[in-house]
Amino acid sequence: MTRKKELLWQSRFSEPFDQDALFFSSSVHVDKKLYREDIQGSVAHVTMLAEENIVSADEARQIIDGLLEIEEELASGTLVPQWEDEDIHTVIENRLKEKIGAAAGKLHSGRSRNDQVATDTRLYMRRQISELQEVLGTLLKLLVEKAETYRETIIFGYTHLQRAQPVSAGHYYLAYFNMFLRDRQRISDLMKRVNISPLGAAAFAGSTLPLNPHRTAVLLGFDDLFSNSIDAVSDRDIVIEFISDCSVIMMHLSRFAEDLILWSSYEFGYLNISDAFATGSSIMPQKKNADIAELVRGKTGRVYGNLVAMLTIMKGLPLSYNRDMQEDKPPLFDSAETTISSVQIFARLLEHTTLNKEKLAKLTSEDLSLATEIAEYLVGKQIPFRDAHRITGKIVTWSIASDITLPNIPVEKFREFSEAIDPDIYECLKADSSVNSKKTHGSCSFDSVAFQIEEARKQLQFKTAGEVRTTV
Ligand code: ARG
Repeated sequence: MTRKKELLWQSRFSEPFDQDALFFSSSVHVDKKLYREDIQGSVAHVTMLAEENIVSADEARQIIDGLLEIEEELASGTLVPQWEDEDIHTVIENRLKEKIGAAAGKLHSGRSRNDQVATDTRLYMRRQISELQEVLGTLLKLLVEKAETYRETIIFGYTHLQRAQPVSAGHYYLAYFNMFLRDRQRISDLMKRVNISPLGAAAFAGSTLPLNPHRTAVLLGFDDLFSNSIDAVSDRDIVIEFISDCSVIMMHLSRFAEDLILWSSYEFGYLNISDAFATGSSIMPQKKNADIAELVRGKTGRVYGNLVAMLTIMKGLPLSYNRDMQEDKPPLFDSAETTISSVQIFARLLEHTTLNKEKLAKLTSEDLSLATEIAEYLVGKQIPFRDAHRITGKIVTWSIASDITLPNIPVEKFREFSEAIDPDIYECLKADSSVNSKKTHGSCSFDSVAFQIEEARKQLQFKTAGEVRTTV
């Protein structure tokens, strides 16, 4: 096959680039996703070039009009990027040349694909961060609503996946609220490092032309400008940080997914997933599966893989730009898209779940998880905690062996274990009094959960500078 279009760098070579080598190095199939950002960056660059009299106003007009038409063509599918063009920057520049001729060649004055791709990547990340903030906001709101709905529903809290102590189910939802709130704060903090313009660094050393990188930074809505041109094109630490933040979000989602999967199982039966968000089995008619939660849990593995891929790609690269860095895009795009869609679908799944209040009420009212209450009751009767723990352990053993639940043990029997036990023991052997006897800050009582809900609502109103940003 012979090439029809020119590569951007071929002038010094006497032989055409080998087609297999070009096919191997082409990134069009991946970076075509960046066409809007690429055009946005180019429009800003050429605007600045005209202001600095590096190109004429007329040339700038032709270039900008051409670029905007190309954006339309790419959006509508009339221009289909071809791999022979090597990357999206070349696709656009070659098309511009077809449209406006020689003036197209002026667009790249004072710019390299190194600062160009770094700019595109930052613009892309900025958009993804805004979207992630938004979908996390929806999830956070929903968690507060769930906490409100189930504030007085009691559920088992677990440690080591053993029933540990009863808690308000609202408390449980708010635990996840706090995790996702920190996730949102983390990406908002990252926005400060992402929203810095690398445009004007050129290949890595700067330019001899009188560029005005402050101006392009302003035109592109960046908050600041790079300080060092080598650093501007050489690092991908913000990509790593972004995928790391995505990994933490996915980790939180996958833990929540796991809880939903367990709770919706027949064995637990705490939670119902509405039919719209459950799947069946092609062979076992009785099955109702939590596939959406399982997929979120599974996709977490892919995002972790992307993080390790990026760390490994960057490890040991000498300064400044190396072509290895082109491999940043698949893990970046995949992490952003997977995390955003996972948060989105998980919120919808959560909306389609209800707690099985009757079953929970029955299970929690009779469970051994009330044992801690006996120990604390004994402490209230001046028995040292270690002794109280030992006495309670014996009561629990007897309860299991005799198959009599704690609230059903007669007071005479209790007194065989400790003289300190009086009939008022039954007061604390109720799940709700257990939950509401907790007096400490941030604990699981209904009142504490009401306070936490108020605080959570305030958090939702409070937005950091990074969080109010919409795509510029
Ligand atoms: N496709 C390249 C990338 O994503 C663009 C930069 C190419 N620069 C170069 N010096 N070959 O990294």
